[in-house]
Amino acid sequence: MTSLVRGGQLTRLLGQWHALPGRRRSPDYLALAAAVRGLLADGRLPLGVRLPAERDLAEALGVSRTTVSAAYRELRDSGHLASRRGAGSWTRLPAGHRVASSGLWTPDDDLDMIDLGCAALAAPHELAVAARAASEDLYRYLGGAGYYPTGIGELREAVARGYTDRGLPTSAEQIMITSGTQHALDLVLRMALPAGAGVLVESPTYPNALAAFGARRSRIGTHGLATDAAWDADLLLAAVRQGRPRLAYLIPEFHNPTGHLMTTDLRERLVATAHATGTDLVIDESFVDLALDAEPMPPPVAAFDRHSRVVSIGGMSKAYWGGLRIGWVRAAAPHVQRLAAARVGVDMASPVLDQLVAVHLLADADRIVAARRTQLVAQRDALVAAVTAALPEWRFTVPRGGVTLWAELDGPVSSALSRAAEEVGVRLAPGPRFGLDGTLERFLRLPFTLPAPDLVDAVNRIAGVRYGLDQVARPSWREPAVIA
Ligand SMILES: Cc1ncc(COP(=O)(O)O)c(C=O)c1O
Repeated sequence: MTSLVRGGQLTRLLGQWHALPGRRRSPDYLALAAAVRGLLADGRLPLGVRLPAERDLAEALGVSRTTVSAAYRELRDSGHLASRRGAGSWTRLPAGHRVASSGLWTPDDDLDMIDLGCAALAAPHELAVAARAASEDLYRYLGGAGYYPTGIGELREAVARGYTDRGLPTSAEQIMITSGTQHALDLVLRMALPAGAGVLVESPTYPNALAAFGARRSRIGTHGLATDAAWDADLLLAAVRQGRPRLAYLIPEFHNPTGHLMTTDLRERLVATAHATGTDLVIDESFVDLALDAEPMPPPVAAFDRHSRVVSIGGMSKAYWGGLRIGWVRAAAPHVQRLAAARVGVDMASPVLDQLVAVHLLADADRIVAARRTQLVAQRDALVAAVTAALPEWRFTVPRGGVTLWAELDGPVSSALSRAAEEVGVRLAPGPRFGLDGTLERFLRLPFTLPAPDLVDAVNRIAGVRYGLDQVARPSWREPAVIA
């Protein structure tokens, strides 16, 4: 079934399309085409939808039909629109583009782009060493069939040790190895969340988690996080008590994108409330290793669990490397067995070789993670200094961990700014990607996973187009949109 976007709907989505930089120099049709490409880029306009008839859009936008015709022609030429005479025009992506893990499509060949859309580090040099050692270890496994739905024993043990060291005694039977944290989330949801059930998530939250909930057609409620104050304990607990969601998905360990760390007190109260309402808690610990300021970490949320209501998920992507695709679930042993039974209907097991690489990396965890932290502190500080100097109106709390800074902008311009930044070689993930229904336009996530000179360069380019937006049309200040 092809869905159709009407003139009025597209006009609303386009917002300040005419405020793109270069508007004065370039004709309207180019600005309109660039704005539609931008909507496709940040996922606000789906692929395969029919755009309005030229006359409808011209009327809705208050421009001439010639302008819309020329914009559609431009989009056809760039491969973003397919048209059939008499039938209409559909959105598409040009050949050679792909959808990235962030949900943003990226040109494969665009090496000059500074990519701040993706919050992940390049691999540490220890990875190649670990891979060589793992290929030797592989001989020990070649005599068997190689299917380990819960993961190879030595990796399950290493991950269990990590939890025990954090103050949460854990046995290997409570660990299931997955192909990344996202895979862990998907599997847990398959088991725990009936289609259409209610879930509670933070706003902002990790966009691909929203995608996983979308796939289960979940009814999503949100708890809004402030840039400075993190979780409001009373509001969060009231949301659980009143909404009685089937499941809550939270990122208490250096939350993506805000970098917040949940207090011990709230962890304890959250679990008690979840027990009372029968809510399962899925706790995403992707960033737990990446504390950047020397401070004691609170106990894991699961440390307060008495009724097997808490499932923890985590992985190697943030402290080690995303390309490894190793994640895990920590749950009660019978739950792990049920997950494994569900998993064989999906992908059978994770690759043995990759798990062996993970074993080697975890054996050297203290050293590797310490170096990652040092690197991230330097990059975070460079980013903070660059934003403070170039964009002094932006507000943010310096993150104490994780890999992202969540900036509150000086106006509701995140999507327009991201489109403009793309034109000057910086890819951004605008605020609305981290929320529902197009909210969070006043926010922007800035990861500090690239080398410091790239971060400084990117911020200066962003500042250039930010003030360019103002010269064309000063965005009117609006009260923050209600976060539903
Ligand atoms: C909060 C959170 N959960 C899960 C993931 C996905 O991680 P993985 O690469 O292990 O699937 C990410 C990656 O950015 C993340 O930020």
